[in-house]
Amino acid sequence: MGEAARALSSLSVHRGLDVRLSSHGSYPHPESVRAVNSTTNPSNSAGQAMNGDFNTHQSIQDYYGQVLKSSADLQTSACCLIESPPPHVLAALKNVHPEVKDRFYGCGSPIPPALEGMTVLDLGSGSGRDCYVLAQLVGASGKVIGLDMTDEQLTVARKTQSWHAEKFGYANTDFKQGYIEDLAAAGIADASVDLVISNCVLNLSPDKPRVFAEIFRVLKPGGELYFSDVFSDRRVPKALAEDPVMLGECLGGAMYGEDFRRMMAVVGCNDARMVSSDPLAVNNPALEAKAGNIQFLSNTVRAFKLALEDRCEDYGQVAVYLGTLAESPHFFDLDDHHHFVAHKPMLVCGNTADMLGSTRYARHFKIMGDKATHFGLFDCGPLPVGSPITSGAACC
Ligand SMILES: C[S@@+](CC[C@H](N)C(=O)[O-])C[C@H]1O[C@@H](n2cnc3c(N)ncnc32)[C@H](O)[C@@H]1O
Repeated sequence: MGEAARALSSLSVHRGLDVRLSSHGSYPHPESVRAVNSTTNPSNSAGQAMNGDFNTHQSIQDYYGQVLKSSADLQTSACCLIESPPPHVLAALKNVHPEVKDRFYGCGSPIPPALEGMTVLDLGSGSGRDCYVLAQLVGASGKVIGLDMTDEQLTVARKTQSWHAEKFGYANTDFKQGYIEDLAAAGIADASVDLVISNCVLNLSPDKPRVFAEIFRVLKPGGELYFSDVFSDRRVPKALAEDPVMLGECLGGAMYGEDFRRMMAVVGCNDARMVSSDPLAVNNPALEAKAGNIQFLSNTVRAFKLALEDRCEDYGQVAVYLGTLAESPHFFDLDDHHHFVAHKPMLVCGNTADMLGSTRYARHFKIMGDKATHFGLFDCGPLPVGSPITSGAACC
């Protein structure tokens, strides 16, 4: 076991996370797991090896492959969009096949700006709705890879590939079958992706530390992780994580914000930013009773593959948004507390300066100053109310 794997493993054990690293290096192919599980002793499954007696992967494949046939079959509001997507995403959605949209189970719109020419990876791409939106935004010179483990979801995504290619005038999507915990097995090379997105999927993983390690392996330096998912205000008990409906509805595996922060620190990300956070109403009395006092949140989060500090430090740097993003000429929201008005200079901490100046956003910003002189801790102001992951994080 390597150093990073040892650190992740010890984090899982010591922090009491609901996940454990698998002892083996790679996972069997999802199709073979399914075949084994449906016919023989379930103790041979990858999901079981990772999570005691309960087979998380199998349970989720059954839920998204057999139980749910469309968004209308969902039993709660967890895998449902709370906020309306921005206008350019709504416009792109008009060009997505209805069958793909019928099987949308996302909880947000994890589609950041500045995408032209980018290579994007969608983890748990399902029927491909976000992939086909992204395919239009990255354009002919970009590429979108969708990865999912469930046959039925991939079948819908793949069967409309040529329909979408004809509509867009180019083919730039690739749907792979595999586990989000093992992107190497799916052929995703180190430092090969500009943007990793995910929509209501990471909560479903029985091995979240490994997913984050894989994400930060495949991201290019300066690359971005931007995802929407279900979070919780406390650790969800194991019994709920092993309840097929609670799990399948994206509640049983919800991430406790502080554990998320710890997992990110292990993979070298000290400053993940909350883009939006909305309380999530379960809207199902039986499942609400099981959840008890647990509060669920639908969060959209962004994190960069950058060497950031664990607190926001003041170097007197200033950032100016140049107003050059076609989808947002008047302002740019980095997170829930950085609203850049076009052409208006704004004092920023060192981490924010790097997020804007050492990533694909660099050509849309003018960053003034460097880190030669330190002026102390950056004055962050009050923490946003009800944002569990920002408390104690480096956020400013
Ligand atoms: C809630 S649905 C979201 C699908 C899609 N992102 C959307 O917005 O419609 C979860 C999807 O993630 C896939 N999935 C869950 N866990 C996975 C894992 N460990 N590896 C690969 N795919 C996974 C499921 O097969 C399912 O298609």
